[in-house]
Amino acid sequence: MRLLMWLVFLAVWVVASAETGKFWHISDLHLDPNYTVSQDPLRVCPSAGTQMVYNPGPWGDYLCDSPWALVNSSVYAMKEIEPNPDFIFWTGDDTPHVPDEKLGEAAVLEIVERLTSLIREAFPDTKVYAAMGNHDFHPKNQFPVHSNNIYHQVAELWRPWLNNESVNLFKEGAFYSELLPDPSSPGRIVVLNTNLYYSNNQLTADLADPSQQFQWLDSVLTNASHAGEKVYIIGHVPPGFFEKTRKKAWFRDGFNKEYLKMVQKHHHVIAGQFFGHHHTDSFRMFYDDAGAPISAMFLAPGVSPWKTTLVGVVNGANNPGIRLFEYDRATLNLHDMRTYFLNLSQANAQDNPHWELEYRLTEAYGVPDASVRSMQAIATSIAGDQDKLQRYYVYNSVSYDTTACGETCRTEFLCATQEVDFDAYDTCLRHTNASPRLRGLLVLLALLLGLRALLAP
Ligand SMILES: *[C@@H]1O[C@H](CO)[C@@H](O)[C@H](O)[C@H]1NC(C)=O
Ligand SMILES: *[C@@H]1O[C@H](CO)[C@@H](O)[C@H](O)[C@H]1NC(C)=O
Ligand SMILES: *[C@@H]1O[C@H](CO)[C@@H](O)[C@H](O)[C@H]1NC(C)=O
Ligand SMILES: *[C@@H]1O[C@H](CO)[C@@H](O)[C@H](O)[C@H]1NC(C)=O
Ligand SMILES: *[C@@H]1O[C@H](CO)[C@@H](O)[C@H](O)[C@H]1NC(C)=O
Ligand SMILES: [Zn+2]
Ligand SMILES: [Zn+2]
Repeated sequence: MRLLMWLVFLAVWVVASAETGKFWHISDLHLDPNYTVSQDPLRVCPSAGTQMVYNPGPWGDYLCDSPWALVNSSVYAMKEIEPNPDFIFWTGDDTPHVPDEKLGEAAVLEIVERLTSLIREAFPDTKVYAAMGNHDFHPKNQFPVHSNNIYHQVAELWRPWLNNESVNLFKEGAFYSELLPDPSSPGRIVVLNTNLYYSNNQLTADLADPSQQFQWLDSVLTNASHAGEKVYIIGHVPPGFFEKTRKKAWFRDGFNKEYLKMVQKHHHVIAGQFFGHHHTDSFRMFYDDAGAPISAMFLAPGVSPWKTTLVGVVNGANNPGIRLFEYDRATLNLHDMRTYFLNLSQANAQDNPHWELEYRLTEAYGVPDASVRSMQAIATSIAGDQDKLQRYYVYNSVSYDTTACGETCRTEFLCATQEVDFDAYDTCLRHTNASPRLRGLLVLLALLLGLRALLAP
C-alpha cells in the first residue's frame, strides 16, 4: 500500500516536472568596448558622455555601459545558474550610448556579432529568439521598412537559431515567428521589430502599418488560434509609458493603439509578452473594454547599469539583472519568474562578480504563479499597500535605488503599470490617489449615491 502511494507520488512528480520548463530572458547588454579602468575621470567610458567617472571598477560603473567583463560575466552566470533552459529570449540593445559618429554600421555589426558569439559559446545547443533593439542599427533608431544591409547581416549572424523561412523574413523587416523546438509543444514565439513604432524613428512617422508588421501579426495570431497554439510575443521597445518619469511613451500614438487592439483581439492565444528597453524591472497590464485583465507584459531589467540621461529621471541607474522563467510546456502558462542580479558596487569592492537571486515573483508578492490573474493581484496590491509598492520600487532598479517611493513616484509607477493606453494613462494621472481601477468604481458609487439622494422623497 505504502509502495503504491510512493509510486503514484513519483508518477505525478515525473509528469509535473516533465511539463515544467525554464527559459532565460536577457536584455540591454549595451557593451561599451572602450570601457577602461582609468584614473582619469574623463577617459573611463565614452558612454558616460561628459560626466566624470571616479573610481571605476573592473565590472563596470553606474555611469557607464557594460565593459566586456560584465557582459561575459552575465552570460556565464546564466550558464552556471541554469545551463539547460528550453530556450533564451534576448531582446536587444547591444551597443553603447554614444553618438552615431562614434559607431557606424561596421562597429554596430561587430558588437552584435561579439554578443552573438558569446551566447553561442556559452549555450551552443540552445535555441535563442533574438530581437533587435533601437541601438542595434546605424543610424540608431532609424529602422527601415524594407530590406537593407544590417537586417541582412544580422539575419546571417542569427541563422544558427533560425529556420530558412525566418531568415528570409528577417531580412525584409527584422521580425519572424517560429514554433518552439520541442515538437510536442503547441508553443509559438513571435519576435517583433517594434523599433518601427518608436517615435524617434523618422522613417515610419507617416505610415499606418510599417513593413505590414501588424497585418502579419494579425495573421500569425489568427493562424495560431486555429492551430490551437499558444504564443509568447517578444520585442525591444514596449508600448505604454516609462514608469520613472511622467508621460514618457516610446510608441507613436497610432501604433500604440494598434498594438493594444492586437492584444485585445488575440489575447486568448497570447500567453505572455516579454520586452526590454527600459533597463528597469516592471510589468504592464492589458485590459479588455470591460476592464477585465487579459494579458501581462514583463519588462526585463538591463545588464548594463548605465544611468539614463533621460530628462526628468532622477538617479536612473540599475544593478545588472538577468531573469529566468518557469513555464508549463503544454500550455505556456507562466509558473514563476526569478530575477538574479549582480551587486555592482560590491562586485567592484571585492573584485568578484557574485550573481545572486534578487527575488522570486511568487515569494516576493505572495501569488501562486505568474498568470494574468496573479499579475493583476500584484498590480492591485502595490496600489493598496505601501510596503508592496516599495518592494516593487526597489526591484525596479534591481536593488540599486532603495530610497522611498513618494507620492509622485507612486502615481507614475501605478499609472504606467496599469495603463498602456495613452488616454487611460492621462486619466490615471489626473485621478491619482486611489488605485485607478478602484477609482472608477468609487466614482460610480458616488454617482449612484447621489442619484439615490436625488430620488429620495
Ligand atoms: C568569461 O567568464 C568565464 C566564467 O567566469 C571566465 O572563465 C572567462 O575567463 C571569462 N572570459 C573573459 C574574456 O572575461
Ligand atoms: C573606441 O575607440 C576607438 C579608438 O580610439 C574609436 O575609434 C571608437 O570610436 C571608440 N568607440 C566608441 C564606441 O566610443
Ligand atoms: C537553408 O538555406 C541554406 C542556405 O541557403 C541551404 O544550404 C539549406 O539547404 C536550406 N535548408 C533547408 C532545409 O531548406
Ligand atoms: C496563415 O495561414 C494562411 C493559410 O494557411 C497562410 O496563407 C498565411 O501565410 C498564414 N500567415 C502567416 C503570417 O504565416
Ligand atoms: C550592495 O553592496 C553594497 C556595498 O557592499 C551594500 O551597501 C548594499 O547594501 C548591497 N545591496 C544589496 C541589495 O545587497
Ligand atoms: Zn537599452
Ligand atoms: Zn532601447
